[in-house]
Amino acid sequence: MVQNWTPNSWRQKPIQQVPDFPDMAALAAAEAQLSTYPPLVFAGEARRLKSQLANVAAGKGFLLQGGDCAESFAEHGADTIRDFFRAFLQMAVVLTFGAQQPVVKVGRIAGQFAKPRSSNIEKQGDIELPSYRGDIINGIEFNEKSRIPDPERQIMAYRQSAATLNLLRAFAMGGYANLDNVHQWMLGFVKESPQAERYRKLADRISETMDFMKAIGITPETNPNLRETDFFTSHEALLLGYEQALTRVDSTSGDWYATSGHMIWIGDRTRQADHAHIEYCRGIKNPLGLKCGPSLTADGLIELIDLLNPQNEAGRLTLICRFGHDKVAENLPRLIRAVEKEGRKVVWSCDPMHGNTITLNNYKTRPFERILSEVESFFQIHRAEGTHPGGIHIEMTGNDVTECTGGARALSGADLGDRYHTHCDPRLNADQALELAFLLAERMKGGRDEKRMVVNG
Ligand code: PEP
Ligand code: CO
Repeated sequence: MVQNWTPNSWRQKPIQQVPDFPDMAALAAAEAQLSTYPPLVFAGEARRLKSQLANVAAGKGFLLQGGDCAESFAEHGADTIRDFFRAFLQMAVVLTFGAQQPVVKVGRIAGQFAKPRSSNIEKQGDIELPSYRGDIINGIEFNEKSRIPDPERQIMAYRQSAATLNLLRAFAMGGYANLDNVHQWMLGFVKESPQAERYRKLADRISETMDFMKAIGITPETNPNLRETDFFTSHEALLLGYEQALTRVDSTSGDWYATSGHMIWIGDRTRQADHAHIEYCRGIKNPLGLKCGPSLTADGLIELIDLLNPQNEAGRLTLICRFGHDKVAENLPRLIRAVEKEGRKVVWSCDPMHGNTITLNNYKTRPFERILSEVESFFQIHRAEGTHPGGIHIEMTGNDVTECTGGARALSGADLGDRYHTHCDPRLNADQALELAFLLAERMKGGRDEKRMVVNG
């Protein structure tokens, strides 16, 4: 048991990024209601994810984590979820083939609703209103009423998460993820892109391998690994009242788990060691992510690791580094060295999105070449330090959006207005996500060849 911790001990600590709920009685009522609802995930599933992440920490796997910056109530259709899942599976297959290692699949989905904001106020013309904080808190429409934090939204977010998770479980376990379908995962609009041919070739090789295996008696019917996949959920644990209401004791171990998702992470703006978000997260047993931005010092990181993973359990903590393409070289090595010196077991993951946001033609966007550049540096630095570049954390969608510039179709600033749909940060579209996966696969293959040369040489 974690010392001096309860699911509500965070309430005694200072806290950042709390919405200004006008009706505290209504907030308490919504939280009380949520606390009577069934858990969304089970402790055993969170432990399974943790053991897969432990393999990644040991250099024997790769974490693929991605999804919307913010899920929305308005876009909760089966097609959106299916297209996301397809794009994600395509990436996973490309990475598995490149790395020849298991890929741990974690969506930013089924609970990714609450957003930290750099300003409490949004200004349009002469009008100032409270910032949008995600559909679980207030509405995105720019009017006074919609921006008032409404606790009923937490009930809606819970119900949407349950429905999304239900469909994802069906896709993952019910045959859609069967490797026999590897050609069918191609999305319509991607078929026209330069990535399509590369993917088709890879899918052909997988199909050929499947035919060979079938010939010797290994079929999807007899082998669940070929027809099902583990798919886990994750979100930023920002709205702690919601998280607390879904924090439950696991009857088999007696430990506390967040049951709002398999993995939760702490944002770059809410990782103060003596504050509420760290307090809440240290007491639950799920795998945790910690966003590491340029302001994190090496000592600060070790202090946080002491709090979040005092037992040095592999798979418990994933460090999600989000420095920016021009800051990664200056910041990542000192963190890696501190962690190595102290012998801490962590998964190193790269979020090449959040340090690379710019404004172009009044749109928040991210140039694809900067995203690739941060990923490249992340790999190079880990190779140089002798550590494992263990994962990637991206904002992506299966829809054909125009939110990040660049990529094989060379989206320009002028294209951003065409299909700019995000509720918060700009996402990679399926085409760009697949292009990134191919690049990653090449880098991972490179690392493998290097290791082989060392072993053989
Ligand atoms: C996010 O992941 O959407 C986010 C807000 O990230 P960060 O905390 O790293 O800024
Ligand atoms: Co974001």
